[in-house]
Amino acid sequence: MTIVTHSVAETEAAAARLAASFRGGEVVALHGELGAGKTQFTRGIVKGLGGDVHAVSSPTFVLLNVYDTGRLKVFHLDAYRVHGAEDFDAIGFAELLEQKGVVVIEWPSRVESLLPPRRIDVKLQTLSPQVRRISVDERTA
Ligand SMILES: Nc1ncnc2c1ncn2[C@@H]1O[C@H](COP(=O)(O)OP(=O)(O)OP(=O)(O)O)[C@@H](O)[C@H]1O
Ligand SMILES: [Mg+2]
Repeated sequence: MTIVTHSVAETEAAAARLAASFRGGEVVALHGELGAGKTQFTRGIVKGLGGDVHAVSSPTFVLLNVYDTGRLKVFHLDAYRVHGAEDFDAIGFAELLEQKGVVVIEWPSRVESLLPPRRIDVKLQTLSPQVRRISVDERTA
């Protein structure tokens, strides 16, 4: 699926629609350059699960934020500053995958070797300051 959004609100709404079908155990890999909208998309996921979007901030400096949405826990990770897979191992990434929550990862290419094959790849591309092309690719294996 590919859509084009023209505002933060549209990006959030697209993410919220995707999250509405989540049952726990989903892994969402958010690909895209700086400022593409990965954190905004995460806000939409949290919103779609009934959580408080104000709690969502970039986890760049802490690697992991956890949001309790009422429905499901969201584990929001950012691999931008990760030096290698060991850093993700150190924060218990493997254990997070077993929590039956929703795991959302910014800059997933930095930890490629740790990503489970069953995941949702979201690619965000900046077309102009307000416009993003967003493609969602659900891999079953
Ligand atoms: N259609 C749109 N969808 C999402 N964000 C948009 C859109 N139009 C403009 N923006 C702006 O783009 C920026 C996206 O920032 P965001 O923090 O989500 O990016 P990011 O991909 O998480 O970047 P980083 O790699 O630095 O973490 C925000 O400033 C937002 O206001
Ligand atoms: Mg971000």
